[in-house]
Amino acid sequence: MAERSPILEARTVTKRFRGLVAVRDLDLVVYEGEILGLIGPNGAGKTTSFNLLSGFERPDDGEVVLRGESMRGLEPWQICRRGLTRTFQIAKPLANLTTLQNVMVGAFNHARSEAAAQREADEVLRFVGLDRRRDVQARALNIAERKRLELARALATRPRVLLLDEVAAGLNPTEGAHLTELVRQVRERGVTIVMIEHVMRSVMTVSDRVAVLHHGVKIADGPPRDVARDQQVIQAYLGEEYLFAQS
Ligand SMILES: Nc1ncnc2c1ncn2[C@@H]1O[C@H](COP(=O)(O)OP(=O)(O)OP(=O)(O)O)[C@@H](O)[C@H]1O
Ligand SMILES: [Mg+2]
Repeated sequence: MAERSPILEARTVTKRFRGLVAVRDLDLVVYEGEILGLIGPNGAGKTTSFNLLSGFERPDDGEVVLRGESMRGLEPWQICRRGLTRTFQIAKPLANLTTLQNVMVGAFNHARSEAAAQREADEVLRFVGLDRRRDVQARALNIAERKRLELARALATRPRVLLLDEVAAGLNPTEGAHLTELVRQVRERGVTIVMIEHVMRSVMTVSDRVAVLHHGVKIADGPPRDVARDQQVIQAYLGEEYLFAQS
């Protein structure tokens, strides 16, 4: 990467749920154009971090800065207008709308007319390979298609930064590989990506950098190779098996 300018930052962000500290003093810098993998065991605080970065939750302490601007007090749609979109771990399509209509909802983030939104949605559907399912109700889509729809809805907003929450979860290896390839292509189009993923093979190969959360605390942050060898990370998450698979 030629220059490393931060596009998104969590500055000492903390989120508590009653007694539980879900995210503790998180400092995270996301650089323009990179793919950052965010990993960690179940309950580590990954989705909560996404909620904080995208305005779905308010930090108890600290702040989120997007493109140099504090996001304090802003609603998710306002943050989306400023260029950050996230997907949900549990895909939530509008079940009674068609695939196309679901994606058009995303496109209205910028589109000035219905025709423009439809054009954008059709283009995105082709890109994710859902064009043949354009006119079916979202409820009729299978898991793999729903995951792609989730990605399509997010892409249609034309994000500068895209947060993907387990977008390959529940997919078979072929579908997963296809999705990883799509993520790579999205980055080629100039979108900065943060992805939460449990499938180590894909996250380690596609990410430029990986950050690891454990009990709400960031315990590692660096190139995938270094993170995969980090003793604390191996103990907390990867296990010896992964180490053997690497060697
Ligand atoms: N709205 C909430 N109210 C209370 N506790 C919550 C809430 N959201 C998350 N938590 C708790 O915060 C912790 C972190 O949850 P989070 O969903 O961020 O984990 P995660 O890393 O995304 O896990 P997974 O890999 O299972 O998706 C968990 O203990 C969870 O139960
Ligand atoms: Mg999660």
